[in-house]
Amino acid sequence: MLPKGPGTYNCALARSRGHPAATMAQSTPQDALAEDVGRRRTFGIISHPDAGKTTLTEKLLLYGGAIQLAGTVKARKSARHATSDWMEVEKQRGISVTSSVMQFDYAGHTINLLDTPGHQDFSEDTYRVLTAVDAAVMVIDAAKGVEAQTIKLLEVCRLRDTPIITFINKMDREVREPLSLIEEIESVLSIDCAPITWPIGMGKAFRGVFDLRRDRLVRFTGGEERRSEDAEVIEGIDNPRLTALFPDEMPALRNDVDLLRSASAPFDLPAFLAGKQSPVFFGSGINNFGVQEILAALIEWAPPPQPRDGGPRMVEPTEKPFTGFVFKIQANMDPRHRDRIAFFRVCSGRYTPAMKVQHQRMGREMKLGNVMTFMANERVQSEDAVAGDIIGIHNHGQLQIGDTLTEGEALGFKGIPYFAPEMFRVARPRDPFKAKQLQKGLQELGEEGAIQVFESVIGNNLLLGAVGQLQFEVVAARLAAEYKVDALYDEAGIATARWLTYPDEKVRRDFERDRAASLATDVDGNPVYLAPNRFNLQVAMERWPQVGFHATREHGQRMAHGRA
Ligand code: G4P
Repeated sequence: MLPKGPGTYNCALARSRGHPAATMAQSTPQDALAEDVGRRRTFGIISHPDAGKTTLTEKLLLYGGAIQLAGTVKARKSARHATSDWMEVEKQRGISVTSSVMQFDYAGHTINLLDTPGHQDFSEDTYRVLTAVDAAVMVIDAAKGVEAQTIKLLEVCRLRDTPIITFINKMDREVREPLSLIEEIESVLSIDCAPITWPIGMGKAFRGVFDLRRDRLVRFTGGEERRSEDAEVIEGIDNPRLTALFPDEMPALRNDVDLLRSASAPFDLPAFLAGKQSPVFFGSGINNFGVQEILAALIEWAPPPQPRDGGPRMVEPTEKPFTGFVFKIQANMDPRHRDRIAFFRVCSGRYTPAMKVQHQRMGREMKLGNVMTFMANERVQSEDAVAGDIIGIHNHGQLQIGDTLTEGEALGFKGIPYFAPEMFRVARPRDPFKAKQLQKGLQELGEEGAIQVFESVIGNNLLLGAVGQLQFEVVAARLAAEYKVDALYDEAGIATARWLTYPDEKVRRDFERDRAASLATDVDGNPVYLAPNRFNLQVAMERWPQVGFHATREHGQRMAHGRA
């Protein structure tokens, strides 16, 4: 059975109403924690821009009862701006620059949906967000198939064997043959596909999908007002009603279904959980068709919060002590408040208001006072959070990406790297009196991870390093809007960067003397080598084999004066 009805995002209310822990006097806090963790699903949506991620996000929220949408395109568009577009740049370009986090309750589960920027220029941000999920929904445009960004994002998911649910969208358009799409996903993305539904027709002749497991047809009717539980369902592939309704399409569908049942592997839960096989659904997000099946799959099949590598040991989500890590910082989310929020994935234990935790990097206690749960761009005071939940912690710069908080144990959650940037600019203020403001703005945007900031050892130039061109534009726009700095961004003549480690002080001093003109420090004070071209880097590496040149570094990791 598909879960029915809208949920509510007021988790505390839902818990007090229906949660067994609230009603069973004999259950222990540990039972209640395990039960709450088991009800969590934390996932992200990945797609190439324009495949329909925003539309699917909205529809999932609609079914989750978290937003109400009017049925017109216009209202949908404005609702979209209100719910997931924070920044002017994003509105102008119509792409999701910032990731957002949305929580809602659905069918007895608490779902955390982490939005990822689809644009390749923000791949670092996307990478970090994907470190905080337990599953992903991959949206494919049925007319275009697998696209460049789909490939990259899937590679990221593969690093952690994240289970993937596939949604092939836009079946109401003239699209490609479903079999060729499946073949493409399997060959290009190297992941096995297990079709769960199969489309009948496409475009104007899109009739619906056949549910291969339940042996029934779910009939398509267009329109944004309808909900998928209202769809007509016709049981059995041999039902005479199907032949009567779709005389032209049924022979081909029967052929396809026979072929799929005999030739394709059935859905295999362990293979899905290992990231090796993906259940595939067809639908049309804009018509609310196929959306509820995705929610059902998330609840039935996607894993609850998983154990995490805490450095010295693995941390189980049902352990009592509270732990977690920061995977994203967002400054000035609300221009009226000039605040800074750390997005924190809870990995174990239970958050309780005003609890005290140990900030591992800074080695000091911190009180978690003002903590929020996110609902689209609305924030709700968080009363309770367990593993899988994302909470937003207000702070004034103490928290950085990669920071671990625990109730005392020395842990450091792993796997959130910085990548060496491939594009560089030198930033200088148009008005020299604004130099301090520029430095402050860049320091904060650097800590937030919007861009990487380096300071050259000679000349103290501020260098910006990015993975994609758009990052520069966003940073320039934000510096102007949030820090009132109009700056110039000149070509830096740098091709790539490497973080440095030295075996001892002597090598460090000798290297620094030899290569002073190429040295800089990052926002955390780590030494960095800036190479004007690949050849230069190669020569430096060959000449200094004792020095470590690193293309990535872990967030929050201080490379102790460059010593490995
Ligand atoms: P993205 O976040 O992945 O970039 O995609 P988004 O949801 O913004 O969708 C991209 C375009 O595709 C939008 O059209 C959207 O309406 C359309 N779309 C999404 N799902 C479907 C679907 O199931 N069928 C059809 N036919 N179109 C779909 P747009 O013209 O760019 O924007 P808008 O004017 O509709 O807002």
